Amino acid sequence: MRALAFEGPGKRAFIEKPKPVVQEATDAVVRITKTTICGTDLHILKGDVPTVTPGRILGHEGVGVIDSVGDAVTSFKPGDRVLISCITSDGRCEACRKAMYSHCERGGWILGNRIDGTQAEFVRIPFADTSLYRAPAGVDEEALVLLSDILPTGYECGVLNGKVKPGDTVAIVGAGPIGLASLLTAQFYAPAELIMIDVDDKRLERSKQFGATHILNSRRDDAAKQVLELTGNRGVEVAIEAVGIPATFDLCQNILAPGGHLANVGVHGKSAELRLEKLWDRNITITTRLVDTETTPLLLKTIASGKLHPEKLITHRFRLDEVMKAYDVFENAAREGALKVLISAD
Ligand SMILES: NC(=O)c1ccc[n+]([C@@H]2O[C@H](COP(=O)([O-])OP(=O)(O)OC[C@H]3O[C@@H](n4cnc5c(N)ncnc54)[C@H](O)[C@@H]3O)[C@@H](O)[C@H]2O)c1
Ligand SMILES: [Zn+2]
Repeated sequence: MRALAFEGPGKRAFIEKPKPVVQEATDAVVRITKTTICGTDLHILKGDVPTVTPGRILGHEGVGVIDSVGDAVTSFKPGDRVLISCITSDGRCEACRKAMYSHCERGGWILGNRIDGTQAEFVRIPFADTSLYRAPAGVDEEALVLLSDILPTGYECGVLNGKVKPGDTVAIVGAGPIGLASLLTAQFYAPAELIMIDVDDKRLERSKQFGATHILNSRRDDAAKQVLELTGNRGVEVAIEAVGIPATFDLCQNILAPGGHLANVGVHGKSAELRLEKLWDRNITITTRLVDTETTPLLLKTIASGKLHPEKLITHRFRLDEVMKAYDVFENAAREGALKVLISAD
């Protein structure tokens, strides 16, 4: 079969690899119909993720059809349409029994990392019963594929951890796919104001179509000062960090109202300063989280009912044999005006 593989730092190739087979009784092999590329795949290509070794097929997002299942798989059979979660869970370890699937002792984020991923014609999914979801009838595959990772990440790590409530003023720093997923799902709770902050005017403009009430370009403006002006010097109830650099974490801690929540979503490679001398008496909460995908069943219902339209985040479409070109576009997202690039393998 054909697949996109990591070939060492800075190198990727569209290669031929044997079709995966069921190895454990709890495995399923899924024929991929739709997949996409994540910012994390770009981190891997830079060599930032040492668990990914050369030859590894990338990708942890996908929708497909069950091709074969091991003897112990009871929930799925060949021909079933499924959503693949970016998080694999055995459903029975201590972490899984607490619904903290991201820290599953035998799973977690392994797809396209420790084992071959979804940017291929077929993928092997361990613990299929607890790592796959049945695709609801009639739901568009383009919407579905955004539920593998970005929607649950923006929702769980940003909106739920940030405790967004009706009437809140919410600032989201980073208008990439994850920040926009937080923007879409924050609206489940009817916040009064949604302020998007980024350095890319195109992304900021687009975020208005997704419900932003204010946009700020932090390269041009003093974003902290403007947020304070917008809120009558009070600050925001919720600041969601969806970039992953010290400057944006700092901005979030500078704009919090007393009692506010700072929900960190970004993956940080460097230490950020914690301004306890300013924050110690402000009753704030700071949270971090790796996406657990525990909200996937709930999010599936919101797209099945038409409440949520994540497919609006797809800007470019390619076939699997054009995946190298899809990466070229995604690597130059600002220039290309790209958010999510969809790859069809059927
Ligand atoms: N916690 C988790 O489980 C989890 C899961 C997936 C992704 N992530 C992380 O979430 C973050 C966002 O992911 P994404 O795919 O949307 O990334 P992305 O790179 O597409 O988006 C980041 C955005 O930040 C903006 N930005 C860069 N520097 C900025 C600055 N100084 N001020 C304001 N904005 C700035 C960029 O213009 C871009 O629009 C990444 O760090 C990613 O690794 C976390
Ligand atoms: Zn587990």
